[in-house]
Amino acid sequence: MEYFVKSGNPEKQRVACVIVGIFDRRTPTEAAETIDKASDGAIGAVMRRGDIDGKLGSTLILHNVPGTFADRVMLVGLGKERNFDEGVYRKAIAASAKALHQTGAIDAVNYLTHLPLKGRDFLWNVQQAVLATEDAYYRFDECRGEKAKQDLPSYKLERYTFDVPRRSDLPSGEKGLSEALAISKGVSLAKNLGNLPGNLCTPTYLAEQAVKLAEQYPIVTKILEESDMETLGMGSLLSVAKGSRQPAKLIIMEYLNGPKDEKPVALVGKGLTFDAGGISIKPAARMDEMKFDMCGGASVFGTLTAIAELKLPINVVGIVPATENLINGQASKPGDVVTSMAGITIEVLNTDAEGRLILADALTYAEKFYEPAQCINMATLTGACVVALGAHASGLFSNQSGLARALLTAGEQIGDRAWELPIWPEYDEQIKSDCADIANIATIGAGEAGAIVAAVFLHRFTRKMKWAHLDIAGTAWKGKKSTGRPVPLLTQYLLNYSAKKGEHE
Ligand code: BES
Ligand code: MN
Ligand code: ZN
Repeated sequence: MEYFVKSGNPEKQRVACVIVGIFDRRTPTEAAETIDKASDGAIGAVMRRGDIDGKLGSTLILHNVPGTFADRVMLVGLGKERNFDEGVYRKAIAASAKALHQTGAIDAVNYLTHLPLKGRDFLWNVQQAVLATEDAYYRFDECRGEKAKQDLPSYKLERYTFDVPRRSDLPSGEKGLSEALAISKGVSLAKNLGNLPGNLCTPTYLAEQAVKLAEQYPIVTKILEESDMETLGMGSLLSVAKGSRQPAKLIIMEYLNGPKDEKPVALVGKGLTFDAGGISIKPAARMDEMKFDMCGGASVFGTLTAIAELKLPINVVGIVPATENLINGQASKPGDVVTSMAGITIEVLNTDAEGRLILADALTYAEKFYEPAQCINMATLTGACVVALGAHASGLFSNQSGLARALLTAGEQIGDRAWELPIWPEYDEQIKSDCADIANIATIGAGEAGAIVAAVFLHRFTRKMKWAHLDIAGTAWKGKKSTGRPVPLLTQYLLNYSAKKGEHE
């Protein structure tokens, strides 16, 4: 399917479907009113008959509306006019997308993009419309059998246009469209990787995908094997990997499209392809969801895809430590002490707090070999973050307020929000160990502020960098499906980063 941005009158569109909104109490939007006038009251009549009341997400398709050139007019309920906001807008766009697929329409023009939202422009309206539509149309069918695959419904829609009120709005609409297409491409890659089960999405599989990315884009991929990790002294990462038969990989993807001497932004993502907890094994209920424990890593793949699509003139290096956390005769035991690449010794009191162990060495690697301008890591790190923030915001932790603010702003802009939590020294005291430099879980105030405790652990390895950590345990998947977050946030952040750099040049 291809998207377009246009500016034209709703009653004059020669397409299979024109989409307009109505608020509850049967209040038509401007576009709906235009069609009502052109048709001598056809819309008003249908509303009076009570076939659609404007409830958010409801849709009604009218055929052969007089005075229009379209085969169909779709009415989309927008709920109460005074409640209309960004979330409602996205829901209405998604509802129209889903209803459109129930029809045989091959092309459509949507007028919901005309609706004004406080503080937003038509770049945003179009961008969000495309993102919400792509999200609604995303399917993961890779794991269905051949027969089932053949029986899947095929979608007819080929051309989908979002309309903007004035011709002068076209350039910003176009910009919104191209940004959204790049972001959607990244989101959908992140979703695919996240949704793929642990037996298929192994560390080796992820490494192969990184090689593929390098074939499609100006990206250079390097894969470090366990023997390389041994040479580098990555005792922390290796301590998690040794409980599994799948060899661990440290995946490095360089997108160097900025000035040669410019330090890169490092994106480090937890690539735990399945987290059973190790000897500190997890309960059976919902353990299947731990196939999503590589979503931080997937967001690195997705974001690199998006910025490569956008051809951003910046340097970014993606680093994904990939391993399983399982149990065998060699698995780490509670109480084991390991030495990280940074030389910091770690008492592994709980083998299920493994994300921080693999990230510690990956972060040290980033610092040592790239001296990044800033380093952002993403991880499905703690259940505690889900308790604190739920599914709506990722947890944000940073040692630099400017970086934190820029990430929060980017999240607000694109609708992929984060919320900041502190990493004060008082929390750092909670990871004291009796025998090693630090413990991998809290020894003081155990069970309190779990998301922060994990963050201060990571901070031990990032003291020399401008660093931020996004705990995406609550946002990376919803139900049993990957969301592709925080690819939108990171891409928007890098778009802003690139634009700001341009200003200074
Ligand atoms: N991958 C999990 C975190 C997680 C749990 C994400 C539930 C999403 C939902 C992580 O490796 C983990 O097991 N963390 C432990 C840490 C604890 C042992 C200190 C947790 O959150 O329970
Ligand atoms: Mn774990
Ligand atoms: Zn984990």
